[in-house]
Amino acid sequence: MTQEQWQSIYETAISWTKEAGESIRKMMDDTYEIHTKVNEHDLVTDVDRETELFFKNKINEKYSTHRIMGEEGLGDVVDDLDGTVWIIDPIDGTVNFVHQKCYFAISIGVFHEGKGMVGIIYDVMADEIFTALNGEGAFLNEEPLPRLENVTMNESLLSFNAGWVMKDRRLEALVNQSRGIRSYGAASLEMAYVACGRIEAYISFNLAPWDMAGGYVLLEEVGGIATNYEGNKLTFLNKDTLLAANPAIYKDIMKEIHGK
Ligand code: IPD
Ligand code: CA
Ligand code: CA
Repeated sequence: MTQEQWQSIYETAISWTKEAGESIRKMMDDTYEIHTKVNEHDLVTDVDRETELFFKNKINEKYSTHRIMGEEGLGDVVDDLDGTVWIIDPIDGTVNFVHQKCYFAISIGVFHEGKGMVGIIYDVMADEIFTALNGEGAFLNEEPLPRLENVTMNESLLSFNAGWVMKDRRLEALVNQSRGIRSYGAASLEMAYVACGRIEAYISFNLAPWDMAGGYVLLEEVGGIATNYEGNKLTFLNKDTLLAANPAIYKDIMKEIHGK
């Protein structure tokens, strides 16, 4: 595919995402069903499903050869990244969506032969859209995001939830060394915040490809690093851990946690 064709896919994906965001804002005013999935921490609503269906119908109609890996399972069964694959989380941060009515996002990564080409993360209530096209940079509401600058641990904000500190006590060192810890409850937004320099690193121990795909493309465009917690490449085919960071802090975290 040519860069022009990718530019067109990028613009189309942005316009669909804004349209989906608009209908989520409308659906929020109506009553919708809330279900638990694996446990009571894991919620899904009719709005998640409707939003994934919206993307599935649009993609099938315009790009019939592209495949869809969506959290709600309305797309294809995807077990490799051959060809073009849209990796979609229709609502990332469903617990926030249900409880707080803010701090949730639509997250999309479009991969081609395993490479992240397009990344979109839309904070629906703040109306902030983070977008990236491979080789063309990353943007927040169309304003270019600068490449990440050098920073030290003691001037960094890090993001991980309290549960992870209980699981891996080595994280306590980062709590002490950093300027502070935040936890927003939407992995895609936390990756976008690393990409735009609002925080310097985000760590999670349990994410799916759709939580990370959009943010990965954003981070690549600003010189950020995203690997699993052990420092290995993400596959976007299975659940994995995540360390997404400004490169300076990435090195410090790897050294502190793994001694390498
Ligand atoms: C969840 C959020 C949350 C993260 C979970 C994800 P969902 O996604 O990103 O921040 O800690 O691991 O599953 O279920 O709201 O789409
Ligand atoms: Ca998610
Ligand atoms: Ca979701």
